Amino acid sequence: MDPRHATEFPPGFFARDDESDDGGFYGFDRFVTHIDDGAIAAVGALYAELGLSGPASGPVLDICSSWISHFPDKPERLVITGMNANELAANEMADEWAVKDLNAEPTLPFDDDAFAAVTCAVSVDYLTRPLDVFAEVARVLRPGGVFVCTFSNRCFPTKAVRGWLANNDRGRVNIVGRYFDLTEGFEPPVGEHRNHGAVGDPLYAVWARTEG
Ligand SMILES: C[S@@+](CC[C@H](N)C(=O)[O-])C[C@H]1O[C@@H](n2cnc3c(N)ncnc32)[C@H](O)[C@@H]1O
Repeated sequence: MDPRHATEFPPGFFARDDESDDGGFYGFDRFVTHIDDGAIAAVGALYAELGLSGPASGPVLDICSSWISHFPDKPERLVITGMNANELAANEMADEWAVKDLNAEPTLPFDDDAFAAVTCAVSVDYLTRPLDVFAEVARVLRPGGVFVCTFSNRCFPTKAVRGWLANNDRGRVNIVGRYFDLTEGFEPPVGEHRNHGAVGDPLYAVWARTEG
């Protein structure tokens, strides 16, 4: 594990109320949406703005995925990883899927420079070794590729890391920005509230491109 998880964040930051195997928690199928329609549209609008949606996207990896990946149009090729096989198999946009517990083993089973983009929707709060995962994302991204993390103010509280729960929305944008700052190979991240004025779920995004 990257030792900076312990040196750059307060003690207990990555602890969780429920430290049981994530496979047990996510073994139960959840064919639900975790954010409302307006927030989903805000995710899709950002993906389109960044060129990740539609046939010109290049290959895209959606980590911490489920039965829905929020692209307005199917990317050229979409690979997804997540925790629940039934949910992943039901993702109609996905060309390929694999179960991958990134807390048990924070590696991505893909070649260097394999993807033009990587996405992580409403899930970065569950990563207990985010610096290891972000380093893997940088490795599998092509130079100039983009990693997009989106999140709202909802979560499974027993599985979110304590540092996330202890912060407000602005603090969470800063946390994800810090993950990027601490990962070699990313340009400075952009963090934005993407749906100002929404009456429903707020939607925040932090993203950065790989150098080169
Ligand atoms: C709130 S859901 C979001 C699912 C999907 N990205 C979406 O936007 O609907 C949280 C997801 O985080 C993923 N997740 C949680 N713990 C994980 C872990 N240890 N390793 C990999 N993925 C994990 C699961 O796949 C779960 O579906």
